[in-house]
Amino acid sequence: MTTSFIGADQNADDLAVAAMDPLRADDVLAELPAANERADTAWMADALADLGAGFDTADVYTARAALRDLGFLAASLIRHDPDADLNGIEPTLLRLAAVADEVPRDTVYSYTTRNPVGPRRRGFLLSDEEHVFIDSVVAATQALNLAVDDLAACRDSADLDEDMLLAALGQVHDGVEVLRKNLRTVQRTITPDYFSNRLRPYFPSMSLGGRAYMGPGGAQMPLLVLDVLLLAPSEPGQLGAWHDGYLGENVLYLPPTHRAVCDDTLLAYRSGNSPLLRCLLESPRVRAEYAALLKRILRFRYPHRQVARANMAIRAEGSLGSGGYTVEALDHLIEITTSKAAVTLPLPRQRRGSADDRDR
Ligand code: HEM
Repeated sequence: MTTSFIGADQNADDLAVAAMDPLRADDVLAELPAANERADTAWMADALADLGAGFDTADVYTARAALRDLGFLAASLIRHDPDADLNGIEPTLLRLAAVADEVPRDTVYSYTTRNPVGPRRRGFLLSDEEHVFIDSVVAATQALNLAVDDLAACRDSADLDEDMLLAALGQVHDGVEVLRKNLRTVQRTITPDYFSNRLRPYFPSMSLGGRAYMGPGGAQMPLLVLDVLLLAPSEPGQLGAWHDGYLGENVLYLPPTHRAVCDDTLLAYRSGNSPLLRCLLESPRVRAEYAALLKRILRFRYPHRQVARANMAIRAEGSLGSGGYTVEALDHLIEITTSKAAVTLPLPRQRRGSADDRDR
């Protein structure tokens, strides 16, 4: 199992990181949007060296706050100069990543839930649109984190019962609803032109420690953990193989507690020993809620794909999301969710007891 040496409450962890400024970077980062408007790569390289070179800590929260701030600067530099030399800052990023037990760059968490609110808010442009974007993803991530907590508690419970699972499915339902509403807010507020041409370039992939790391993106959000808990094990065949690959590629970017939930769940599913999966499929009442929940997830996935398509329509052919995928990935996720929803439909009533089940 992956180490999870700090609190299991992801929202509290991230708020603690948001409050910190270990590099004393508040003033410098307040100038970043202006530097980005000027495409001032010399300023960015200097700021990275001044703040980061040689910085060290043994504290997890401090390391995450430092990675956040260096991440904003490094991503801005690479956005304006894809060949910029990160060699000077690379040892610091790799050291901080080892302490944070996370990837050596900015993630969807450093950009949103670990980003302070108010005058200390970090941003690439700090436009009204970027504030809406960050706030929407914060709200959705926090709600999804609560859902992960409840569902993971079911998975870990020695005496999991139907009521506990139904309550957790209700929490997931609420989280997905918050996600859907916040996507709508972004869809109404940010045009494809603004997102694709202004914001998206600040989420470039970055090469560090000899490998490429993707920029912050939706595929790193905690919906991924819910996908592992609710959609894995994947169906056999090509689509299932694609899904296994997608999950594996993106679990890497999660905080360690969520990585541990994913790794342990996938292991249990593969060994066929999962009380959660058994309980999800056992009673007609839970099956019905499970199927309804998967349909609820589709009520996010369909409009989200529309947003992504509208953006890709104005970009060069073959353009990728910040996670490195084409819109086809979203087609696959819709297909997998739809087919799982069909499998989980309530069983036909064969036993005399099933009428009682329905009224329970
Ligand atoms: C505004 C323009 C947006 C575009 C163009 C866009 C595009 C994409 C793309 C192409 C992916 C596939 C992975 C990748 O390569 O990054 C993706 C994944 C994802 N995005 Fe977005 N997205 C947008 C906004 C949002 C917002 C506002 C949210 C949440 C409130 C969101 C949540 C997600 C999630 C959860 C995934 C994982 C796939 C899934 O679970 O269905 N996206 N997005």
